[in-house]
Amino acid sequence: MADIKIPLKDLAAQYRALRAEMEAAITAFLEAGQYVLGPPVEKFERECAAYLGVSHAVGVGSGTDALLLALHALGVGAGDEVVTTPFTFVASADVVVRLGARPVFADVAPDTLNVDAARVAEVLTPRAKALLPVHLYGLPADVAALREAAPGVPVLEDAAQAMGAAVEGRKVGSLGEAAAFSFFPTKNLGACGDGGLVATDDAALAERVRRLRVHGASRKNYPEEIGYKSRLDGLQATILALKLRRLEAWTARLQELVGAYRERLAEVAGVTLLAEPPACRPAYHQFTIRASRRDELKDFLAARGVASAIYYPLPVHLTPAFAELGYGPGSFPEAERAAAEVLSLPLWPEMTEGQLEEVCAAVAAFYG
Ligand SMILES: Cc1ncc(COP(=O)(O)O)c(C=O)c1O
Repeated sequence: MADIKIPLKDLAAQYRALRAEMEAAITAFLEAGQYVLGPPVEKFERECAAYLGVSHAVGVGSGTDALLLALHALGVGAGDEVVTTPFTFVASADVVVRLGARPVFADVAPDTLNVDAARVAEVLTPRAKALLPVHLYGLPADVAALREAAPGVPVLEDAAQAMGAAVEGRKVGSLGEAAAFSFFPTKNLGACGDGGLVATDDAALAERVRRLRVHGASRKNYPEEIGYKSRLDGLQATILALKLRRLEAWTARLQELVGAYRERLAEVAGVTLLAEPPACRPAYHQFTIRASRRDELKDFLAARGVASAIYYPLPVHLTPAFAELGYGPGSFPEAERAAAEVLSLPLWPEMTEGQLEEVCAAVAAFYG
């Protein structure tokens, strides 16, 4: 295997660009001595809510916890169903099981790989307590169509991969009753560790998530319910507040790079591009193609020093952890086909046109 010349993402590039500002902010944070919650987290929450166009933003320990606490606050529990996609990171579904509820999967649309509203309508039962669409790779799922397919069922957006995306000018994260974001370092807005956030316009829901993140206690040592310990770390909030100011510029740059990728790869036999949903601004977390002979292409790129990744090699319903739900091969053909074909190519805001050309040339060379 050749040394990696072009990584999937270069996380330290962002640090290098922001070094002086980041180090000053971290020093100020350390000197202020407010290390858990308090002003650094509150400041970031306010700025994040304003950016997303929602009334409330609550910082929690990770994107997984954002999903978990939001579902809990929505009242999801034993006997309930949550309808979601099988083609996602496992967290979108395992939080449902952890609350004693059942994830009910609906297949994805082949052109976007986001959950298909028509398939959601088919699996809906009176037990559905929430819909959990995932904005995969930073491409917005069709929340309006989902609402039509399941009238009255609250929507929790899994926006872990899509901070900065918008539909008809409204930011992803403001489209459902609540949304979960992840600040895992590779995400569009990435911390230097774990972090997550729940966004909502519902004051009571926000209040409950705030309580749940500190052991279910609005007043310290007087818990009103059994909660969790899951707070956005103050140091991460400090770093994220500083990066949030760059997010629009990074999103635009990623879109520009993806535009160049799409142009260069459009005519390459063997490559199928995903559709960008209409009237939306994607916020590309990954640039993912469908590729014939995908595994061979991946090896070919690796031999030329080009990293790539498969998100996801196994749809959630086929993983051993979810076997007891009773799904099997053939349950969701589009998700299963996607898992055999998808390949994510290098993409990060500081990536150069030269690097992108090199990736495209290697892909084109593979297909001859
Ligand atoms: C779609 C999706 N949901 C949830 C998560 C969970 O976020 P975290 O890793 O911050 O717990 C991720 C992160 O990988 C994700 O991609």
